[in-house]
Amino acid sequence: MTLHFDENGMPKISGMDNRVRVPKVLVVDDNVQNVELLEALLNISGYEVMKAYNGKEAIQKVAEFDPDIILLDVLMPIMDGYETCHHLKQDKKTRFIPIVLLTALDSLEDKVKGIEAGADDFITKPFQKPELLARVKSLIRVKSLLDELENAQDVLFTLALALDFNDPYTHGHSQRVADLSHRLSAFIGLPVEEQSIIKNAGILHDIGKIATDKGVLHKPGTLNGKELNHVKEHPVVGAKICEPLNFAKPLIPIIRSHHEKYNGSGYPDGKAGNDIPQGARIMAIVDVYDALTSVRPYRSDIPTEVAVEVMKAEAVKGYWDPEILEAFSEMLKLEASEAH
Ligand SMILES: [Fe+2]
Ligand SMILES: [Fe+2]
Repeated sequence: MTLHFDENGMPKISGMDNRVRVPKVLVVDDNVQNVELLEALLNISGYEVMKAYNGKEAIQKVAEFDPDIILLDVLMPIMDGYETCHHLKQDKKTRFIPIVLLTALDSLEDKVKGIEAGADDFITKPFQKPELLARVKSLIRVKSLLDELENAQDVLFTLALALDFNDPYTHGHSQRVADLSHRLSAFIGLPVEEQSIIKNAGILHDIGKIATDKGVLHKPGTLNGKELNHVKEHPVVGAKICEPLNFAKPLIPIIRSHHEKYNGSGYPDGKAGNDIPQGARIMAIVDVYDALTSVRPYRSDIPTEVAVEVMKAEAVKGYWDPEILEAFSEMLKLEASEAH
């Protein structure tokens, strides 16, 4: 299942398929007899089998058939099992396909080499049929759980983007906040893993607004105290939505704290300074910047340079992390000069 955008820019999920399907096994071995033996055994047990006779061919077949598991011989011509395994585990599209190395070698050194290449399991040749089938079955189960997890992630992200896209007041705000926060976190030199946490948190930061009354959310003019408190619930609601989802755990502190202010006057917890997670300090700046620079039904956008200057002038009030705000201004200047 993949998330993509249609010609109107609307987020869509394609490939949703609830049909029961036969799991696909890719068998890779330069020994034709071995391949036939495995094919016969797996066919009887209800699997669809694809075959390859060296590592290079295996990589092509993986791209073509997207197998649920790969049984991979180690000693092969052209490209051996370790190299093939390493290649497939490096590729984002194929890294979750379980790989079982089939090897006649039973030395510790070879196992270590296999583990380093990213293999999920080993089977020593000549293999015991029940053992082989049991391992194939359990690894396919793990793979399908991982797929489901990825689906849950796609659904939540699509929901966040769709909500935002349909809202004339925000129209693409979450995607822009995600992209800008991602760039800013790279600019200040955060590790790649944190950059992607911040990006994903950007997509979901306002997901809690799903529970906010739209009449209140879009009310022109000033909100009364009760209405304001209602709107202010969205970071906590967003964090709650993400709580049961494992993949979203690292995003929760950012989602919860994206309206905290550096001087402690923000919400929901009134955190201050470096008690506010760094990702949330980044997002707080980008969030306000995007609100200022995007077109809203009640006003046109403010030019980017003006927006940053307004924020810098406001910064004396202590809303934002001064170092991150400075870095943000630097980054925008650099991007603008590169664009010319
Ligand atoms: Fe928000
Ligand atoms: Fe926002």
